[in-house]
Amino acid sequence: MSDSTDRGDGTTVYQPAEDSRLLAEAAVERVGDDERVLEVGTGSGYVAGRVAAETDATVVASDLNPHACRTVRETARSEGVALPVARGNLTHPFRAGAFDRVLFNPPYLPYDPDAARDDWMERALTGGETGREVIEAFLDDVGRVLAPEGHVLLLVSTLTDIERVAAYAADRGLAASTAREESFPFERLAALSITPEH
Ligand SMILES: C[S@@+](CC[C@H](N)C(=O)[O-])C[C@H]1O[C@@H](n2cnc3c(N)ncnc32)[C@H](O)[C@@H]1O
Repeated sequence: MSDSTDRGDGTTVYQPAEDSRLLAEAAVERVGDDERVLEVGTGSGYVAGRVAAETDATVVASDLNPHACRTVRETARSEGVALPVARGNLTHPFRAGAFDRVLFNPPYLPYDPDAARDDWMERALTGGETGREVIEAFLDDVGRVLAPEGHVLLLVSTLTDIERVAAYAADRGLAASTAREESFPFERLAALSITPEH
């Protein structure tokens, strides 16, 4: 997980790190050219931008952080990439059945009172006391926006307890399996492929 660029003016946007790259690789490998793809929590737009550039899928990006949304719009415009961006909370702004694939590299670090900072970087990194609060809120609603046969790719870390994420998904009728993983000195990252159980 990146420490990212703190511009010191409250406009911090998470910059791509190893977790972003793992999710992007898993997505580019799997996304079909006719798919409608949503990236939730797009940050700099790195993952959505790669899927838009490397596949013929229709890609939409979203984030709660208005500075991230502005950055992604500006980058897409300057690079001539078609990448609409919506500001909003998780999948809530989107209509039922709208996407074949939803991607999310969530804030997943457990809250650390000694490192806490009340800013957008905290929102990008921290998933509440357990590290799973934003992930669980995402899993509560993501099934609604998936088209029939739709898939989710969710980035998780051993710091967040991957088995508990999979168990929470299963309780909501979602089956999780590992699509891609990579180990680092302090954590193992996995891109989970999650599908509704029919
Ligand atoms: C770990 S960063 C990932 C950024 C980017 N997708 C990447 O992989 O480099 C998490 C992102 O989720 C966004 N985020 C946090 N809570 C959110 C929420 N409730 N709804 C939408 N986005 C959220 C943060 O602003 C941040 O941009």
